[in-house]
Amino acid sequence: MSRILTGIQATGVPHLGNILGAIEPAIRTTKDPSNEAFLFIANMHSLTAIKDPILVRENTYGVAAAWLAFGLDTDKNTFYRQSDIPEVTELMWYLNCVTPFPMLANAHSFKDKSENLSDVNAGLFTYPVLMAADILLYDAEFVPVGKDQMQHLEMTRDMAGAFHSKYQETFVLPEATFDERVMIVPGTDGRKMSKSYNNYIDIFLPEKQLKKQVMSVVTDSTPMEKPKNPDTCNVFALYQLLADDAKVAKMRKNYLGGNYGYGHAKTALFELILDRFDVQRNEYASFMNDREELDKLLLNGAEKARKVASATLTRVRAALEF
Ligand code: ADP
Ligand code: TRP
Repeated sequence: MSRILTGIQATGVPHLGNILGAIEPAIRTTKDPSNEAFLFIANMHSLTAIKDPILVRENTYGVAAAWLAFGLDTDKNTFYRQSDIPEVTELMWYLNCVTPFPMLANAHSFKDKSENLSDVNAGLFTYPVLMAADILLYDAEFVPVGKDQMQHLEMTRDMAGAFHSKYQETFVLPEATFDERVMIVPGTDGRKMSKSYNNYIDIFLPEKQLKKQVMSVVTDSTPMEKPKNPDTCNVFALYQLLADDAKVAKMRKNYLGGNYGYGHAKTALFELILDRFDVQRNEYASFMNDREELDKLLLNGAEKARKVASATLTRVRAALEF
């Protein structure tokens, strides 16, 4: 049994890029009987950036509802909120004390944020230590991450190594896994879809608003009657990621044949999104209307997680002679 762990920031409701690039692949991985997954919502990490508590709370529920809507099995896996596990901050302190200051000061993500943000708080600086505690607390073996998080994984291994050399072998050394094949979903403006570019499609929106987002996908100004190049078109790129081969072939023909406008293609894309995500949209809405159920599922997950967390902390405290 391999233990896989990943944290999801509570910075907003997952968009189509997060769904195709992270949620669907992760859920497929959790279905493999030889894997056991720990998945949590990193709502404490989100405090480094978001100071509105209602917003962090709502984002946390939104992320939870999205993963559940896509079929995450909470019996087989351990699904929880970071803030429900106080053990993580205790471990973070011990790791802080074996982490060299320059290692944190040189982290790419800290340098980038401290140069670009007005609120440069100490949480941004020690962000990787909390992340290391998230991972080491649960004896995680594999951590699927995007390229931007690779350095944090190296730091996690360094912190565990530093603890081992000062005290004794205590932690499982995690490995980062990175899937080169994961697609990059383009946003409405053709750049990578991202919350930070505000170019995303939120498939959970009510139909009218969702349609507005799909209609805002940027295209060139080829007139309706002229043939169009599907391979340079954002609408086609998104359509291709969601449709089956027969539908894609038909759409390609429409583009090349002329007398088919971008408006038609966008409407087809909108309808495809409604169709492909019909079940998930309904599930999401019903979870968002039942916070008690969401809390219940997350607290059950926290209970399972805390068992593992406290066993690890017992080892850590023993190593510290506490
Ligand atoms: P954002 O750029 O919107 O802030 P995050 O950086 O929080 O998204 O990414 C969360 C997860 O979703 C990561 O695993 C990331 O690789 C994946 N992801 C984000 N945007 C895309 C995209 N446009 N295409 C594919 N995967 C994406
Ligand atoms: N830092 C990660 C991100 O921004 C989120 C995260 C927090 C995480 N703790 C983690 C990811 C532990 C993997 C493992 O996406």
